Amino acid sequence: MAIEATIILAGGQSKRMKTKTSKVLHPLLGKPMIFYPLKWAEELGSRQIIIVVGKNGGEIKKVLQEKKVEFALQPAPRGTADAVACALSQLKNFSGSVLILYGDAPLFRLQTLKKLVSVHNKSRADLTILTTVMPDPSGYGRILRAGKQVVGIVEDKDASPEQKAICEVNAGVYCVRAEFLKAGLKKIQPDNQQKEYYLTDLVKIAVEEGRKVAHYQAPDWQETLGINSRKELAQATFILQMRINQQWMEKGVSIEAPQQVVIGPEVKIGQDTVIEAGARLLGNTRIGKNCWIQAGVRIIDSVIEDEVEIRQGSVIEESRIKSGATIGPMAHLRPGSVVGKRARIGNFVELKKAIVGDETKASHLTYLGDAVVGRNVNIGCGTITCNYDGERKHQTIIEDEVFVGSDTQFIAPVRVGKGAYIGSGSTITEDVPAHSLALARSRQVVKPGWTKAQKKKSSKK
Ligand code: UD1
Ligand code: CA
Repeated sequence: MAIEATIILAGGQSKRMKTKTSKVLHPLLGKPMIFYPLKWAEELGSRQIIIVVGKNGGEIKKVLQEKKVEFALQPAPRGTADAVACALSQLKNFSGSVLILYGDAPLFRLQTLKKLVSVHNKSRADLTILTTVMPDPSGYGRILRAGKQVVGIVEDKDASPEQKAICEVNAGVYCVRAEFLKAGLKKIQPDNQQKEYYLTDLVKIAVEEGRKVAHYQAPDWQETLGINSRKELAQATFILQMRINQQWMEKGVSIEAPQQVVIGPEVKIGQDTVIEAGARLLGNTRIGKNCWIQAGVRIIDSVIEDEVEIRQGSVIEESRIKSGATIGPMAHLRPGSVVGKRARIGNFVELKKAIVGDETKASHLTYLGDAVVGRNVNIGCGTITCNYDGERKHQTIIEDEVFVGSDTQFIAPVRVGKGAYIGSGSTITEDVPAHSLALARSRQVVKPGWTKAQKKKSSKK
């Protein structure tokens, strides 16, 4: 049975996080925390996804605006049961089961959640909860059992010393028959330390009503970590980072010092690519085979084809690097750039919306913005496209096989025809026809003996 609906809770105050924004927007490996539960809801084929937000939920809505989700408002953070209750009126289908996830628990494996759903379906339970055994359970709700049967959850703050010694905890994931959810929530009272409506009380209520409560105990407790503080955010980030890096190493990617390499959950990497310490590969990035990503490189939302070398300290954003190209060290590729096959973008070169053709070289100290550069072009050291007139951006077009001498400025809009030659130090303000030489600098003046004459003059004074 598919999951009819998923409710994700993100309406809390994030008190322990000491943050001005919602904690579910704090990133792990470049993705906001809430991205993870949302992804599982999608992958489990949930037909409806409702995210419960507090009255400052505008930011969360903005971050998720392109997602197929609905939002429910919890006017005041009165507890996890109250949060779920705020989503109930939006549920479309009351015949199936609802999956409830917390927005602050981003480490589950999809497999674990699938297992929980299958236990729920097979056991035909009204409520199925996910538990795990933790070496240090403090802060978590403890699982109360009568024999083998789960009969309740007691929150850390309400637990007696004996209950605090229980190491089996509530992971905060629930499958509930919608019909029981609706009825059960009405019975929950805020009679506890925090004066909150606890969703966890559903277990006790189900047991009292003689309903069937099932559970699945997750073998890896690390998956169930919830993030309440900055320290826990760092811990969870590290766990996820090592899990992802290990997966890539198993697939044939070399990672030097994996503790120092950050690879986002959506990144893809080809075989025999080598990644050095301090690299950060984020967003929707694809990296080909046999690439060499050197130390301290940062790549976001970009495509790197096969056999590309990205040298130390380069930053690449929303760009495409074709096979065999070399970038950096210290190059900056800003959004909308494309670098052709076997092209070379050298040190201190910045590209912005620049399309650079195959085999073209811009080896040193250059800015190419709003530019289209053809194949086999040589861009000399210190070349600048002057693309901005203070109000608008203009384009520079440099056709195939052009030679641009060092220290050239192109005052855009301007076009240089195929095979043309630009003399060093030129300021090009007009189009250059194909195969011609353009020189745009003042002639050198030489005055023989000038400095000696100056010295004589000053000694007479
Ligand atoms: C909760 C569980 C605890 C479990 C732990 C697992 C309850 C009462 N306790 O505790 O048993 O071991 O998670 O991580 O459920 N939220 C709202 N509105 C509210 C309160 C919370 O939307 O009024 C959201 C929060 O934004 C958060 C989630 O619910 O994403 C969990 O709330 P939190 O306060 O972090 O609960 P814990 O104390 O961690
Ligand atoms: Ca929590």
